[in-house]
Amino acid sequence: LVVDASDATGRPIPDTLFGIFFEEINHAGAGGLWAELVSNRGFEAGGPNIPSNIDPWTIIGNESSIIVETDRTSFFDRNKVALRLEVLCDSEGDNICPDEGVGIYNPGFWGMNIEQGKTYKVIFYVRSTESLNLTVSLKGSNGVGNLASSAIMGTADDFSNWTKVETLLVAKATDHNSRLQLATTTKGVIWLDQVSAMPVDTYKGHGFRTELFEMLSALKPKFIRFPGGCFVEGEWLRNAFRWKATVGPWEERPGHFGDVWMYWTDDGLGYFEFLQLAEDLGALPIWVFNNGVSHNDEVDTSAVLPLVQEALDGIEFARGDPTSKWGSLRAAMGHPEPFDLRYVAVGNEDCGKPKYRGNYLKFYHAIRTAYPDIQIISNCDGSSRALDHPADMYDYHVYTNANDMFSRANTFDRTSRNGPKAFVSEYAVTGKDAGTGSLLAALAEAGFLIGLEKNSDVIEMVSYAPLFVNANDRRWNPDAIVFNSYQAYGTPSYWVQLFFSESSGATLLSSSLQSNSSSNSVLASAITFQSSVDNKNYIRIKVVNFGTSAVNLKISIDGLEPNSLQLSGSTKTVLTSGNVMDENSFSQPKKVVPIKSGLQNVGKDLNVTVPPRSFTSFDLLKE
Ligand code: AHR
Repeated sequence: LVVDASDATGRPIPDTLFGIFFEEINHAGAGGLWAELVSNRGFEAGGPNIPSNIDPWTIIGNESSIIVETDRTSFFDRNKVALRLEVLCDSEGDNICPDEGVGIYNPGFWGMNIEQGKTYKVIFYVRSTESLNLTVSLKGSNGVGNLASSAIMGTADDFSNWTKVETLLVAKATDHNSRLQLATTTKGVIWLDQVSAMPVDTYKGHGFRTELFEMLSALKPKFIRFPGGCFVEGEWLRNAFRWKATVGPWEERPGHFGDVWMYWTDDGLGYFEFLQLAEDLGALPIWVFNNGVSHNDEVDTSAVLPLVQEALDGIEFARGDPTSKWGSLRAAMGHPEPFDLRYVAVGNEDCGKPKYRGNYLKFYHAIRTAYPDIQIISNCDGSSRALDHPADMYDYHVYTNANDMFSRANTFDRTSRNGPKAFVSEYAVTGKDAGTGSLLAALAEAGFLIGLEKNSDVIEMVSYAPLFVNANDRRWNPDAIVFNSYQAYGTPSYWVQLFFSESSGATLLSSSLQSNSSSNSVLASAITFQSSVDNKNYIRIKVVNFGTSAVNLKISIDGLEPNSLQLSGSTKTVLTSGNVMDENSFSQPKKVVPIKSGLQNVGKDLNVTVPPRSFTSFDLLKE
């Protein structure tokens, strides 16, 4: 491998090259990154009509002690469903309540993770016909063990109207499979609505589960595309993500059923929170909005203007003046400063749909006129031929097998250098080569990414998909980060992305592999960058060996002053494993992770051996 490290031939890599794509899929947000512990907090999962669906809320008591039903008496206009509990038993008399009381419990998203010493904020709205004596508690697995509790009491007058109750519970013990319980031993009718329980300790108090946030942050993403994916489109337009229904006070959000990935979201992680997430990650938000196209229905272009206005309003919400109509709502939510929204994507994977182009142009012209600086991303692939419509970038998605992914390292070699740049916003090896996250998949992706890095004169942005999976709801395999209520690990594909975390804004060095028998299965690239960790300057050479034999490689670095590389501080990081189908798991989260070691020698020429089926990064410290 010959690397030209002279300043003259280097080429800047876009500052934005590597980022992430967050989709509400696999309970990535609800029951995932969003730290809300209660599922279906407004009892609205069956929609606005009654009887609605209260799942996973479960009734404590039997028909002689309690009658539970949904009605439409909620205090909140946009989500009228509330839960009515008619308690038939009492603490005295003929029909004595059980000691633990009667009521309801919520097991969260496959069990709540409650940790000893941590504080949980429980908020709910309640109304009562009689004096209230309600015990709010965190219970252990199967309702056994009291982790924390608080008694909410008052006269009938105190609770004759809807009243917001807020209580802090400090856990006495740890249980990863806990539940929130609200129970009483007092006869009467109680209504409940908008019941929330969240750990007080979230990232910056912004509601993001800290350890999952930190896994994202470690990737140093330069952008975050959100909220989908198919989630943006919906199977039907009526179930698509509509930003206005996801902003404002959380209690007032109606929530919606995502009919592609088939689960209800309370939309606690709404448009505002996505923008906040981007800001907290130091990443540029890329908002994907619905353009009047779902999987099964479409708005005719002649009728799409209300949706165009909805998108313009969404941009105003993100970055408008705090005195503007929608900017003032953002300010009221605690963020008077505009968010740094510079990119929007018109739809997702909709290019082939009959109404896409017509609708796209309506959005394009309206946004271009109102916000000339906003970069507009088309769904149509411009990698092999010119687009037939104006766009600042085009989306490119690829899900394929491992060999094909590896061979796609060359995809953009022949792309025109003149048109709009590519946003490779979804890529992954899928199917049997990938399982739920194999080394094989990750190595093929490493090869593909090396090709993208080398073609970063025509590629502006790259992100893997999907990002997250709650192991209890695997709608899509594989994914970058796997979690349950209390554990998380990266798949090999996650770790591959880490090798590229210093590439955005770095300088690509010219490098060429001399051909030999293994050259078809070896790909390499070289960059020079200033480390964000120690501020020192490095040359990073990444080599993927997709083949089954070790490869001896002579790396020659031209264009440097003699002795300008330092042995001390130079390292080698290798991602490999005994079997190419190896995966990480909750029991072995570090089975396939990068291993870093010092280098034995460093100089103009470096003789190295790259193991079979491996990805290696040589980080050479410059004087
Ligand atoms: O990443 C999973 C899905 O794949 C996305 O929702 C969609 O854009 C693509 O088809």
